[in-house]
Amino acid sequence: IPVERIRNFSIIAHVDHGKSTLADRILELTGAITKQEGQHQVLDNLQVERERGITVKAQTASIFYKYKDQQTYLLNLIDTPGHVDFSNEVSRSLAACDGVILLVDACHGVQAQTVANYHLAKQRNLIVVPVLNKIDIKHAQPEKVIQDLQFLFQIDPKTVLQVSAKLGLGIKEVLNRVIESIPPPQVQREQEFRALIFDSWFDKYRGALNLIYILNGHLEQGQEIQSMATKKIYPLKTISILRPKECDVKSLSAGQVGLIACNMRNSKESIIGDTIYLKNQIVQSAGNYTPQKPLVFAGIFPVDQSKHVALRSAIDKMILNDSAVTLMVDSSPALGQGWRLGFLGLLHMEVFCQRLEQEHNAEPIITAPSVTYRIVLNNPRMIKQMGKNTLDISNAALFPEPSNIKEYYEPLVMGTIITPSEYVGQIIALCIDRRGVQQSSINIDETRILMTYVLPLSEIILDFHDRLKSLSSGYASFSYEDHGYHLTNLVRLDIHLNGRPVEELCRIVHATKATGIARQMVHKLKDLIPRQMVQIAIQACVGSKVLARETIKAYRKDVTAKLYGGDVTRRMKLLRQQAEGKKKMRMFANIRVPHETFINVLKR
Ligand code: GTP
Repeated sequence: IPVERIRNFSIIAHVDHGKSTLADRILELTGAITKQEGQHQVLDNLQVERERGITVKAQTASIFYKYKDQQTYLLNLIDTPGHVDFSNEVSRSLAACDGVILLVDACHGVQAQTVANYHLAKQRNLIVVPVLNKIDIKHAQPEKVIQDLQFLFQIDPKTVLQVSAKLGLGIKEVLNRVIESIPPPQVQREQEFRALIFDSWFDKYRGALNLIYILNGHLEQGQEIQSMATKKIYPLKTISILRPKECDVKSLSAGQVGLIACNMRNSKESIIGDTIYLKNQIVQSAGNYTPQKPLVFAGIFPVDQSKHVALRSAIDKMILNDSAVTLMVDSSPALGQGWRLGFLGLLHMEVFCQRLEQEHNAEPIITAPSVTYRIVLNNPRMIKQMGKNTLDISNAALFPEPSNIKEYYEPLVMGTIITPSEYVGQIIALCIDRRGVQQSSINIDETRILMTYVLPLSEIILDFHDRLKSLSSGYASFSYEDHGYHLTNLVRLDIHLNGRPVEELCRIVHATKATGIARQMVHKLKDLIPRQMVQIAIQACVGSKVLARETIKAYRKDVTAKLYGGDVTRRMKLLRQQAEGKKKMRMFANIRVPHETFINVLKR
């Protein structure tokens, strides 16, 4: 198929606005899948995706479509995940596109993620095809949503298409519009082969599979390719296109999107954003894609150390399919040997952990998420030892003594919130409580408001999204992006049990919030730690200053006390159960702390 008859595009939408349903209808209309397959939403094929109803891993389909001019067009639909946390996968997918379908729910209208995705597309100079979905629903308000699109993005109302993905109405018009308004890819077939790796995942039998977008030339079976990043050379094993099932082809040409297998064994070899070319040729980098840095970090530990190797291998496999996750070795006196993982956001972390459990049967202990703080040292000896005067630290336990620190910095985000006007007061109060600073506030229309806030990342990673949803009966939406660091005033809050600090419980908090959090934590710990043979003093301290204190009274627990004599087996069973219970505890001096405590204590 000539380049002029290729179109590469994505569908971008707020979560639940119907992206997967529309993709299914497009595949059905073009005969790529049958109606029955469509109901299973073939593009969302991971278990987590089905359960949570969100698309996690971008998937792609090449479709052949006969346009009005009786010519067959090749449409490469590049699926993008649709949640706040996943903007990196969105921008990664957009690297192969010339346009996007901006899909908006005609009932709920423009949401925070619609705004974020629209800006991502615009930054890349992509053509935007505006489409309203769910017009079959009785209370849909297409006119109002079209007005909002015009007000927010200067979209011409005449260009907005209206569809019902569920009923399959208006789908043909969408495809025709894609062909008419999105330009064919700007590529040269006469030049040397060059392609961008924009996604990769792991196959048990074939190793890493790379999804590539070909910018120049052709690729044929039997050729050898070289990676620009590693300079390694690989013989091609298979070339295929996704329709959406894998379908082998003999060659791929510039403008196309395809899948290659070439014995790359892991994510160190198969690098998203890398350029590949034919062995020993000299070409320019195709990489217009920079990987995003993780924002949220958490420790992950096996429940007991015998599961260490199995957990490591499960994590490795997961990371092959998600190069945005970073991994470092970590250890803790209470939890043993483990790792510290970096994620793009909280949802990213939750999905990762859920997949680890579902797909790999792993049941790790995951510590509370934290952000990366930056500190500037003032102790010349430490500076010399480290070879630098600034440190980035995500693990509170590794913070140096305050006397060695000159300045503290914390990461910020720029948050976009869209809410019905009646909830504005409560949402502003929430943002102020989270140390947010309002940047702008505009009325989208009579009923809805768009606000932007600069917020410290640490204030939103735990429960901000949930709070926002519950304050607004689910109507407010939120999306955020990285906004650099700012100078701030932090302290390390240590928790002591009978005078001994517990590393896993220490936290970095804003100085103005230390006392409140200290009280909250000791209070919670009093509930979470079971009474034991000895009295336990729980103290929250900053340096040597005790900010809050609670005591758990000693108590002797004999589970067999209520059984007088008699039934030996019953007695044995109870003692055994008690022993089991003890195993799931961690010992601090002679105090037992249940595993869940480490996470539960941080929930507000
Ligand atoms: P993510 O993959 O998480 O971004 O969600 P999505 O945008 O792919 O949403 P999905 O296609 O899963 O649709 C969300 C819900 O909206 C589902 O329950 C669909 O059945 C429903 N839905 C999608 N399109 C329509 C439509 O045209 N009309 C109606 N009534 N419901 C629709």
